[in-house]
Amino acid sequence: MKLDSIRREYKFAELTRKSIDKNPFKQFTIWLNDALNSKVNEPTAMSAISIGTDGFPQSRIVLLKGYNQNGFTFFTDYSSEKGKAIEKNNSIGIHFFWPELERQIRISGYAEKTSISVSDSYFQSRPITSQIAAIVSNQSEEIPNRQFLENRFFDLQDKLHGEIPERPKSWGGYIVKPVKIEFWQGRESRLHDRILYEKKDEPWVTKRLAP
Ligand SMILES: Cc1cc2nc3c(=O)[nH]c(=O)nc-3n(C[C@H](O)[C@H](O)[C@H](O)COP(=O)(O)O)c2cc1C
Repeated sequence: MKLDSIRREYKFAELTRKSIDKNPFKQFTIWLNDALNSKVNEPTAMSAISIGTDGFPQSRIVLLKGYNQNGFTFFTDYSSEKGKAIEKNNSIGIHFFWPELERQIRISGYAEKTSISVSDSYFQSRPITSQIAAIVSNQSEEIPNRQFLENRFFDLQDKLHGEIPERPKSWGGYIVKPVKIEFWQGRESRLHDRILYEKKDEPWVTKRLAP
């Protein structure tokens, strides 16, 4: 397969400063709803990019579990690689790509831990098997083999006898408080539309960027 011959024109839609909402969160809602209503696979999946403790950027997929005018929330293990990175430097990027809509949204901001009540309430809303998995998996740590993980999982499941476990203190949410949000719409002839919102003042300032 010749990779350099793969080429697709983007014609799905356009984005103008006139048509977008003045509020980036409202614009995000419009695009997220488009993604939810179309056949986008995993519409809430986003890359979360932190500055690793070794200085290299590091990216991984997480799931958006909520957002409001304050920011975008995902849940994870605070002791994981990303947790350690955020502890040292809470600058973070999040990035959505919805290929079926020829769109991406790129957000940069600062990650802060969600409140105990937000983390508790989301943890409790998860299936018990996911709760147990979160407890027995020290995310990003080396383990000897898969059996080790499964043994820990089934041991705890037996011990609990169907009782709901407590959220481990090392597991919870981050809210990403954005300072920049860029909406990108693919267009014909690679003349894509890019509108950037920057939080310099209230309200947000927008500018169009060259593709
Ligand atoms: C579709 C998808 C959804 C995921 N959702 C999450 C999530 O919400 N939270 C999470 O901690 N990891 C999630 N992961 C796993 C992460 O990508 C990653 O492997 C894990 O968080 C460890 O990352 P780290 O070692 O950089 O901390 C998801 C992976 C995929 C592919």
